[in-house]
Amino acid sequence: MPQTNTYIDFGAGSLAVPSKRATLDAFRYTSHAFMMQEWNAIWTRTWLLAGLALDVAEPGDYFVFDIGAESIIVSRAENGTVAAFYNACQHRGNRIVTAERGAAAAITCPYHGWTYHLDGTLKLVPDEERFSQGLPVERLSLKPVKAEVWAGLVWINMDPDAAPLGDFLGLVQGQLAPYRFEDMVLVKDQTVALDANWKTCVDNFNEQYHVDFIHPQHASFVDCRDAANELWPFGHRRVLVEGYVTNPRYGVPEELPSLLQAAIRPLGLDAEDFRGKVPTLRKAVQQRKREVGRELGFDYSGFTDDQVSDVLQYDLFPNIIMTIKPEELWVMRPRPHPTDPDKCFFDKWTLRIHVPADAGRGLSLVGDPNAAPLDSSERPEHEVFTREDVIAGRHSMTITIDQDIHYLKDMQAGMHSRGFTRAWLNEDEARVQHFHDWVDVWLEQNPLRPEARLSRAAE
Ligand code: FES
Ligand SMILES: [Fe+2]
Repeated sequence: MPQTNTYIDFGAGSLAVPSKRATLDAFRYTSHAFMMQEWNAIWTRTWLLAGLALDVAEPGDYFVFDIGAESIIVSRAENGTVAAFYNACQHRGNRIVTAERGAAAAITCPYHGWTYHLDGTLKLVPDEERFSQGLPVERLSLKPVKAEVWAGLVWINMDPDAAPLGDFLGLVQGQLAPYRFEDMVLVKDQTVALDANWKTCVDNFNEQYHVDFIHPQHASFVDCRDAANELWPFGHRRVLVEGYVTNPRYGVPEELPSLLQAAIRPLGLDAEDFRGKVPTLRKAVQQRKREVGRELGFDYSGFTDDQVSDVLQYDLFPNIIMTIKPEELWVMRPRPHPTDPDKCFFDKWTLRIHVPADAGRGLSLVGDPNAAPLDSSERPEHEVFTREDVIAGRHSMTITIDQDIHYLKDMQAGMHSRGFTRAWLNEDEARVQHFHDWVDVWLEQNPLRPEARLSRAAE
């Protein structure tokens, strides 16, 4: 059975099938003009994943979300709500917060000391009586941005007229509720600077056509040949890949491949029991994980058998890729560079359930039972590095993603060639097509008008 592609509407008029089919011309990945259209029609209009709620857990906590040339402060205000503002002082526009995150009683601009409450209102202005056109404290506050929290993730929207996040995510919120991401612990926080357009990265994660070539190890633990793709409204996508199986394209092995052997050892399963019976492993793992979960204190009862064994990937428009298992979540986020369409910043957060291992019996739901236990009170450092660091082995985002990172630069470079005009996709690249179809829908709905830029400047 080959991959399947299914359009699924969200109901209430939110249709999955886009109005037209995009042509994937090289310029959409390489041109400044296209980048400006995206800024106007996508980045400033759609809900964006700004960061993790655990970084604004307490009143006074804040973090900064840099997106393109824009910078946004997300804070937990004194009254407990999460708020977001443009990171621009209302005095003369200085970028106020330069730290990635922190905690403070108030937000003070370092230039002339204007101080704001954590809800963005202006608290204190030095020499306030010297402002003859009116008291700033009575008139000014940091310019707000819409913010919502869902699943331990903070989302913002720069469009003051945007519909609520729930309308945008549709089915996604209900489907992902059993995973309880908000209870997970952050174990890695990484950013790699890449010489590739942000869409080149999104495309990479939206097809498995490349898997046999650059990730040959995958054939020994997941079935990418038969992936089920779903294509949703607003440009969202999902793919389901069966886990604890081998890729049937290469026949059925007599014994478990080494990666599967390693994967089942912490569950207390014996590879020898599956000699000559490799296709029975997936069902056995579904059952065994529930047993181990009961012993270690993790409840799988909210999950279907498929969810227990398989890998889901949610691709949320525009730039979020979530790889999801009950025990672990990867959130990946290619962010556009402020000025260069040939660059982006690729963030990856790794979150895990906080369930103790039983080292004595060799049991764990998240890998090596002898690994040091997670300490949820200590936030991991933010690792920032380059592609060259990955190639030299100084940093890793897992073998698979390191392999992707290796190739993205060459993808971007090839698209600049006079010898390349546009992509030619196959049916197993339907999520790539759907993503770009919806890029075009957003661009068409929000055309960039030169006079709009001028009038904004005059505001
Ligand atoms: S620019 Fe911030 S206080 Fe002057
Ligand atoms: Fe890949």
